[in-house]
Amino acid sequence: MSSEPHLSHTRPDGTPHDPRVPLLLDAHEVTVRFGGLVAVDAVSAQFRAGELVGIIGPNGAGKTTFFNAISGVQLPTSGRLVAGGRNLTGRKPHRFAAHGVARTFQTPRTFAEMRVRDNIEFGLKFAGRRPRKYVFWGDEESVPWALRTPQSILKLIGLDTLADLPAAAITPSQQRLLEIGMALATRPKLLLLDEVAAGLTEGEIEDMARLIRRMRDELDLTVIWIEHAVTVLLRHVERVIVLHQGRKIADGPPAEVVRDREVIEAYLGDEMEPGQEDGPAAVLLPGDRPGPAGPGRARSAP
Ligand SMILES: Nc1ncnc2c1ncn2[C@@H]1O[C@H](COP(=O)(O)OP(=O)(O)OP(=O)(O)O)[C@@H](O)[C@H]1O
Ligand SMILES: [Mg+2]
Repeated sequence: MSSEPHLSHTRPDGTPHDPRVPLLLDAHEVTVRFGGLVAVDAVSAQFRAGELVGIIGPNGAGKTTFFNAISGVQLPTSGRLVAGGRNLTGRKPHRFAAHGVARTFQTPRTFAEMRVRDNIEFGLKFAGRRPRKYVFWGDEESVPWALRTPQSILKLIGLDTLADLPAAAITPSQQRLLEIGMALATRPKLLLLDEVAAGLTEGEIEDMARLIRRMRDELDLTVIWIEHAVTVLLRHVERVIVLHQGRKIADGPPAEVVRDREVIEAYLGDEMEPGQEDGPAAVLLPGDRPGPAGPGRARSAP
């Protein structure tokens, strides 16, 4: 058992993660059982401030259940969860939220009859009620620009021109953006995104990936992102965790994980987009050398 969590994963360049970067969330051997089914099987993972981590895996692998556990929505059968240095094992979702954990749901949960703007206000009210010791940015001036007002959040997510419409009147992809806005309005430190790109067009998925990068880069957020759009996800995250039948089978830089035999057999072999028949290694990742150009080759690195 490791008492040195800071050495448990590496940065994209392969060097150990800087132990001075605070640990935002430490999940230790988290297990969730539903009767005889082990949905999450002794998963340990640490997340440090400023990371953008992807979680992938086949349907039913336990990704959402893991999110439910690390946001207090699902009580783990066993294991330990420490957020912001506090042991939150067994605590309710609002306690996780108070410690800066915010999430979206696989099926968006917005208030359909309320205006888009009021959905965002709802989250800000939660942030306003947060006890002082959990206000992460000190005074209002040090809050990242985009998290300050409903208007700034709406602008960031690109819904500012739709602010006065009822949430029911916007498209499903805009609903997903709104749900992200509601999560941002709680002024979190750790943002959990569950398939926010599901059902989006290819162009919208790319826009979503860019928004996720911006939230991490500009808002001082740590982001964990579950998605089945694997090729897009792998190009944007620095670290990826693979779940399979409830177990964590890989955790590392995308370039390494896509070459992992167990990962290919469990998942990636079936998940590649058409045109990547030469296998997961054809997915070009930041830092990879582009392969020979030609029809059907993976798209080039950004
Ligand atoms: N509340 C529940 N009661 C019983 N079984 C559940 C419950 N929630 C999830 N499961 C089961 O736990 C397993 C993991 O489900 P989970 O939703 O976490 O998978 P997932 O990786 O998110 O899948 P997907 O990619 O389809 O969203 C599945 O077998 C699922 O049927
Ligand atoms: Mg799921």
